[in-house]
Amino acid sequence: MPTIREIYFDSLNKKKDHVSESDIRDLLIIENRLKSYTDLTIHFDDEMKNEEDFKNLFARLQNGEMIQYITNQASFLGDKYYVNESVLIPRQETEQLVSLAADFIKYNFDKHITIADVCTGSGVIAISLAREFKGAKVYATDISETAIDVAKKNNATFNVNIEFLTGNLIEPLLDRNVKLDVLVCNPPYIEKEEEIDPRTWKYEPHLALLAKPATKYYEIIINKINNLMNKHFLIAFEIGEDMEESLTEILQENGLDGCYRFEKDIYGKLRFLFIMK
Ligand SMILES: C[S@@+](CC[C@H](N)C(=O)[O-])C[C@H]1O[C@@H](n2cnc3c(N)ncnc32)[C@H](O)[C@@H]1O
Repeated sequence: MPTIREIYFDSLNKKKDHVSESDIRDLLIIENRLKSYTDLTIHFDDEMKNEEDFKNLFARLQNGEMIQYITNQASFLGDKYYVNESVLIPRQETEQLVSLAADFIKYNFDKHITIADVCTGSGVIAISLAREFKGAKVYATDISETAIDVAKKNNATFNVNIEFLTGNLIEPLLDRNVKLDVLVCNPPYIEKEEEIDPRTWKYEPHLALLAKPATKYYEIIINKINNLMNKHFLIAFEIGEDMEESLTEILQENGLDGCYRFEKDIYGKLRFLFIMK
């Protein structure tokens, strides 16, 4: 029987460029029923357990599948969430969206606010905000029932109280006459398949990626601000990096001059739009 160390170095030698060392370590941790990287280093010279299972999972990594789908785990703001192929793997930019929105909420609203995460996917935005703003009423919507199932599973893990609504964008909220103080949304915003990284296209849900035109979902929400939002509100959007011009046009058509600002991500790209009144 080979040791974990032998399997680790053998896999490092064979791995393709897209596979990272940490992906291999994660698989070794899972297959050897270990708890952490530290645990792995302590047991590095133990006999490898479940070598066959490891080989199968390693082959999936080599084929381009993301480690998060293989392990059914993704991290978001330091916590582990359940994910599967029904939901987008949460991105670093979305962590920044939530942090920026949470800072704004802290200083501009009282405790008993109403928040919605529209296009919730795995539920990471709604759950992070519900955990931070315990007095808030939080809704989360998605058109995909299987995505809502994932979000509910995560909701149960974190034991927060979110109302999940399956349906088209903001329709379930409008149908219930919900009035929001805060709406956070990371909608699909990519117009053409060719703009999408091939691994993302192969493994992540197309429903989470594509919108035609790219501004479609932002426009629907902005057009309905008066029906959906309270007088004093925040809308926080994640956006594609080349959308400033087209979104500015929509904002101006809706009389929102002076009520919005675009924000950059940590790489200096404009990736967020905040509308405030
Ligand atoms: C970019 S993903 C965002 C997921 C998650 N909020 C995140 O940030 O990781 C977009 C989500 O929008 C959902 N979606 C696509 N079209 C929709 C629609 N018309 N109404 C509601 N949700 C929709 C998809 O199912 C997907 O979960």
